[in-house]
Amino acid sequence: MSEKQFDVVVIGGGPGGYVAAIRAAQLGFNVACIDEWKNAKGGPALGGTCTNIGCIPSKALLQSSEHYEHAGHSFADHGIKVEGLGLDVAKMLSRKDTVVKQNNDGIVYLFKKNKVAFFHGRGSFVKASDAGYEIKVEGAAEESITAKQVIVATGSNARPLPGAPFDEENILSNDGALRIGAVPKKLALIGSGVIGLEMGSVWRRLGAEVTVLEALPTFLGAVDEQIAKEALKAFTKQNLKIELGVKVGEVKSGKKGVSIAYTDAKGGAQSLEVDKLIVSIGRVPNTIGLNAEAVGLKLDERGAIEVDEECRTSLPGVWAIGDVVRGPMLAHKAEEEGVAVAERMAGQHGHVNFNTIPWVIYTSPEIAWVGQTEQQLKASGRAYKAGTFPFLANGRARALGDTTGMVKFLADAATDEILGVHMVGPMVSELISEAVVAMEFKASAEDIARICHAHPSLSEATKEAALAVDKRTLNF
Ligand code: FAD
Ligand code: NAI
Repeated sequence: MSEKQFDVVVIGGGPGGYVAAIRAAQLGFNVACIDEWKNAKGGPALGGTCTNIGCIPSKALLQSSEHYEHAGHSFADHGIKVEGLGLDVAKMLSRKDTVVKQNNDGIVYLFKKNKVAFFHGRGSFVKASDAGYEIKVEGAAEESITAKQVIVATGSNARPLPGAPFDEENILSNDGALRIGAVPKKLALIGSGVIGLEMGSVWRRLGAEVTVLEALPTFLGAVDEQIAKEALKAFTKQNLKIELGVKVGEVKSGKKGVSIAYTDAKGGAQSLEVDKLIVSIGRVPNTIGLNAEAVGLKLDERGAIEVDEECRTSLPGVWAIGDVVRGPMLAHKAEEEGVAVAERMAGQHGHVNFNTIPWVIYTSPEIAWVGQTEQQLKASGRAYKAGTFPFLANGRARALGDTTGMVKFLADAATDEILGVHMVGPMVSELISEAVVAMEFKASAEDIARICHAHPSLSEATKEAALAVDKRTLNF
């Protein structure tokens, strides 16, 4: 067994871990990153959940399925005739795999460029001593590495439904949901959160009859109510069947597919027979195999690693970031924490502003937001002004042929400071960045209203919604 000493060891090579490793190396540390993810050939596949079975492959399939839907439905409106439209699911999946591999390879290149040593295998704590923390790597060979500073970035796993474990054949997690080989005739999803809506959209666009069963009585409870209502209207129009307030009972998987017994919102007993079921009811922090007990690393009651605001764990020199700690399970949140931790280790003042972390749901229409919702402002008693602008009145949206949705600004009633921006509509995943920048700079709605936005562009809806706060829209 070889032994190696580093300044910093990062356990986990997802967006949190690999970005932390790169930033630490930029700051002059001698850095190692350990990641156990295996590609189909057993080789490394850096990038974690996000790159391999999360953000990247889901967006690749969302894009492909959207092209297919456009070709089948909206091209005709543009005067484009499509004859003999067909679907090659195998090709679509292999394109997605190529996109994933490009991202895996990109991280290998970045590690080389930044001189981050990569170890492929499972990392686990062995012991703490004066030399630092000893970490065992179990890969093709067993190695031991030691460092004074450790960043744990071991991510999260899909939460299974009690009594219905994932078999990735019929009962699928996000992993299986991204590699269904043929479009199922009938597909059910349990949980109408982010994965439920994104993966439900992919397979509906490709032709599946999709039903989403959600336990809560409200749709997208964390989203601004007005925006969530608009989104639900759009999804219903697309025939994405969403049943709220259900209680899922027995789930049986057999040769013919899956049967789901559930109680509907009115208390009626229902059952649903489908070819495949995707369970998307949230994710659990992952500390499997980390051997946290060996060094006394504290976990909280959810199984997440306990950290303070600055990602310090219960142990000196051990930090934890991303999905394995509190806070939203988002790749960009993990990355920001990774950068901040590396900078803190170097004596700098790394900072993550949790109030300005954007959320995006990549459905069509897309949903994006930053800051507080109207219901949160009402509950807190803060006096606010609201302004909305519909994409229906935006020239670029009309030219695109996609006028669903709106932009909504919420600003402080007295100071006009922007408190939240909420969007549903075309390309709002890109538009939301302007709102994030504005909020970081503590801008007022008036600041955005007075900035020149290119015409014709979707971003004019942002400016107009800011104008609407002061009741002076120009185009509506
Ligand atoms: P992970 O990405 O989970 O990476 C952890 C890594 O650590 C993995 O490679 C794992 O194998 C490795 N590991 C774990 N334990 C060990 C060990 N003991 N030794 C060695 N290696 C170990 N977020 C967004 O912001 N935008 C999106 O569009 C988006 N889409 C998503 C779509 C889906 C279907 C899913 C499931 C998630 C999506 N997310 C999205 C969430 C995003 O993937 C996570 O927030 C992000 O991956 C968290 O990064 P992380 O670095 O904390 O952990
Ligand atoms: P989620 O937390 O977004 O949604 C889970 C949903 O399942 C909730 O609405 C919840 O009420 C419901 N639910 C829970 N138990 C249930 C039950 N027994 N029966 C019926 N419904 C039940 O979780 P999801 O969709 O699994 O995604 C996990 C996380 O991954 C997200 O929270 C997000 O952090 C991340 N992600 C981010 C994406 C993005 O940024 N675009 C895309 C996909 C995932």
